[in-house]
Amino acid sequence: MPISPQEFDLIRSFVHEHSGILINAGKEYLVENRLTTLMVQNGCDNFIQLHQKLLADTGPLRTKVLDAMTTNETLWFRDDSFFAALSGGVVPYLLKKAQRQTTVRVWSAAASTGQEAYSVAMLVEDGIRRLGLPAALLAKFSILATDISPSAIFIATSGRYSQLAISRGMRQEFLDRYFDKQGMAFEIKPEIKKLVTFKQFNLKDDFTQHGTFDFVLCRNVLIYFSDELKKEIYGKIHRGLAPDGLMAIGASESPRGYTTSFEQVMVGGAALFCPAGALPKVQPHLS
Ligand SMILES: C[S@@+](CC[C@H](N)C(=O)[O-])C[C@H]1O[C@@H](n2cnc3c(N)ncnc32)[C@H](O)[C@@H]1O
Repeated sequence: MPISPQEFDLIRSFVHEHSGILINAGKEYLVENRLTTLMVQNGCDNFIQLHQKLLADTGPLRTKVLDAMTTNETLWFRDDSFFAALSGGVVPYLLKKAQRQTTVRVWSAAASTGQEAYSVAMLVEDGIRRLGLPAALLAKFSILATDISPSAIFIATSGRYSQLAISRGMRQEFLDRYFDKQGMAFEIKPEIKKLVTFKQFNLKDDFTQHGTFDFVLCRNVLIYFSDELKKEIYGKIHRGLAPDGLMAIGASESPRGYTTSFEQVMVGGAALFCPAGALPKVQPHLS
């Protein structure tokens, strides 16, 4: 269904206001492709009518529209150098914290269908084995994984992945160790699954409800937001990080120009960030 310039402006303003996602000019096809079915299903003849329904809606239609407008692209161990840094430096650092603290809290803040959070959980279990640490340390890890998209959170919570989803980045050794084959699908084993709690959450909302984290991953999502919202979200992450906490963002993202509250920490070939002045002792490649 072709979208007129007026309709496009109405829909993109609505999506921006409620999710922070910027839909740039020239992306009319994206709105047409992703929202035409919803428009028809809701008895609308055009996008103006859909917009009117959205304004009168108390939640369910808004949620569906925002869900449809998210890009949930993700994979296992996304970005080799980042996950090498996690395995060699960040996970050993967090395991040291686990020996001193009652809990180590991790947040995957744009979790999509769960690959990022489960990849971290698998690396923690793997780190305990490689470093010969007590298996009981695993239970000290608590990983919160949130996303605005209810359909992504649904898949993530199920912990079940198709062969195609598994083929995107999963290592054979980890597949054998951490998944059970269930018919045509692969299901993450309960000991890894129980480390992760999935919730629907909008990054535009207040973060204080989530408490303080030792490690926040907010990867490949800020690229969709305005400079103003990036600034706001960096501020909220900073306030939610432990003084010796770490933040990870996507390889093409940087807090530079938005905030001076973070300092870069190089771990192997990957850039992570800590609260300015803190510089936690993360050793690259401890093992
Ligand atoms: C490209 S995926 C990145 C997934 C994962 N972090 C990675 O790097 O592979 C971006 C995710 O951000 C989510 N997202 C977009 N806007 C959001 C918002 N306002 N609040 C929370 N999540 C949002 C999308 O639903 C999508 O799942």
